[in-house]
Amino acid sequence: MLVRLLYASRAASPLTAPVVDSILAQSRENNPQQGITGLLCFSDDIFIQVIEGGRDEVCKLYNAIVRDNRHTNVRILSYEEIDARRFGGWVMGQVNIAKVNPALLLKHAEKAVLNPFNCSGHASMALLDELVATASVVNRGN
Ligand SMILES: Cc1cc2nc3c(=O)[nH]c(=O)nc-3n(C[C@H](O)[C@H](O)[C@H](O)COP(=O)(O)O)c2cc1C
Repeated sequence: MLVRLLYASRAASPLTAPVVDSILAQSRENNPQQGITGLLCFSDDIFIQVIEGGRDEVCKLYNAIVRDNRHTNVRILSYEEIDARRFGGWVMGQVNIAKVNPALLLKHAEKAVLNPFNCSGHASMALLDELVATASVVNRGN
């Protein structure tokens, strides 16, 4: 059975390329064997990640992610059982929000900044769908 989980968190310290690269390297290493796919969006200090896969695998990964001291304030934005993946093309796609057209951020939010903590999970998921539709995702990885 497939599930999709969306969460947001705050980076423990201002994000640097090596931190993001190390997270993506772990994702590329681990996710294929667990059948996990998804998308990691980040700004200077915030992560939003969607992970899809089997329920056991998604829950196990989420529990590992919550314990990771590279971020804090991990908050589930949505969790659902799904019939099909929406992010199946990515072992873990990445989107640097600094490189995204501000109009895209404004489409579903009050300001052109990434702030999943003050909008609905539905709006954050709509933003991720938009990022996929506008080919803003890089690092296909599989
Ligand atoms: C924001 C964020 C996203 C992460 N995403 C993944 C992921 O998709 N897959 C993964 O294996 N680890 C991910 N991690 C790392 C896990 O928290 C954990 O460190 C890792 O799974 C442990 O892998 P290892 O046992 O190979 O060292 C993420 C960490 C953070 C902070």
